[in-house]
Amino acid sequence: MNLATAAQSSIGRKLISGLTGLLLVGFVIGHLTGNFLLLAGPEAFNNYAYFLEHLFHGAGLIIAEIGLIVLFLSHAWSGFQVWNNKWNARKKNYEVPGDAGGKSKKSVSSTTMLWSGVLLLAFVVWHVAQFKFGIIDTGNRAVMVDGVEMRNLYGIVVDTFAQPLWTGIYVIIMVMLGFHLWHGAWSAFQSMGLANDLYLPTITKVAHFLSIVLAVGFVALPTSIFVFSNHFKAESDKYMQQYGTNETSGDMIYRTVSGLMSAEKGA
Ligand code: HEM
Repeated sequence: MNLATAAQSSIGRKLISGLTGLLLVGFVIGHLTGNFLLLAGPEAFNNYAYFLEHLFHGAGLIIAEIGLIVLFLSHAWSGFQVWNNKWNARKKNYEVPGDAGGKSKKSVSSTTMLWSGVLLLAFVVWHVAQFKFGIIDTGNRAVMVDGVEMRNLYGIVVDTFAQPLWTGIYVIIMVMLGFHLWHGAWSAFQSMGLANDLYLPTITKVAHFLSIVLAVGFVALPTSIFVFSNHFKAESDKYMQQYGTNETSGDMIYRTVSGLMSAEKGA
C-alpha cells in the first residue's frame, strides 16, 4: 500500500484528522499566548508581529503559513471523511434494530463537529483577510520605528474590537471553538490509537480543561478591548503620535491602503 492509499483508508483519515487537529491546537495555544501581548501595549504587540513577519528574513513566516494552510485543509478534508463514514455507518445501523453498543459519548459538541468545523474554517479565511490583509481599512497608518517601517497592527485590532458587532461575532466564534475542542481535543488521541481505557479519562479531563481555557482566553481579549476601548485607543493614538511620520512637513507619509503598505511622497 503506498502513502496515498494509506491516507485514503479509514484508519489513515482518522490518523490525519487526529494529528492535524493536535498540531492546530498547538498553533491556537501559541496564537493566544502571542495575542495576550495586546494587553502589554502597542509597542510590545507590534514588535512581536514585526518579529514574526521578519523571522529568517521573512522565510520563517512563509514556511509557517504554508504549514498552516496544509494543516487547516488536511484537517478539514480528513474530518469531513471521518464524519461521512460515521454518517453512512449510522444510516446502515438504523436499518438493523438494536443497540449501538458501548457507552455513548454523544454531546452537543460531538454531534456538531462538522458544523462548528465548517464555520471555524470560514472564520479563519475571513480573519486572515481582516487582520493580515486589512481588507477593512481602519485608517491605521504604518509607522517608522528606528528607521524601520511597521504596521500599527495593534491599532487595527483595537479599532475592530471597539465595535460591538465585531466583538459579538468573535465571542460567538470563540465559544464555538471551545465546543469544537471540547470533543476534538480528546477524540484526536482516540483516533490516533493513543488512548486506552486507562488513560482516556485523564486525557478527556485535560482536553476539556484546555478547551475552556482557550475559549475563555480568546473571549477575554475582544471583550476587554471593547469594555476598555478608550484606554486601548488612547494607547494606540499615543503610539501613532510618537512614531507616525509627520503629515504637515510633507515628508514621506506611510499609510495602509486596504492593508497593503504604501508610501506616498507628501500625500
Ligand atoms: C480573539 C481572538 C483572536 C485575535 C485577537 C487574533 C488576532 C490575529 C491577528 C492580529 C493576526 C494578524 C497577524 C499578522 O498579520 O502579523 C492573526 C492572524 C491569524 N490568526 Fe488570529 N486571532 C484570534 C483568533 C484566532 C483563532 C481562534 C484562530 C484559529 C482557529 C486564528 C487563526 C489565525 C491565522 C491562521 C492567522 C494568520 C497567521 C499568518 O498568516 O501570519 N486566530 N490573528
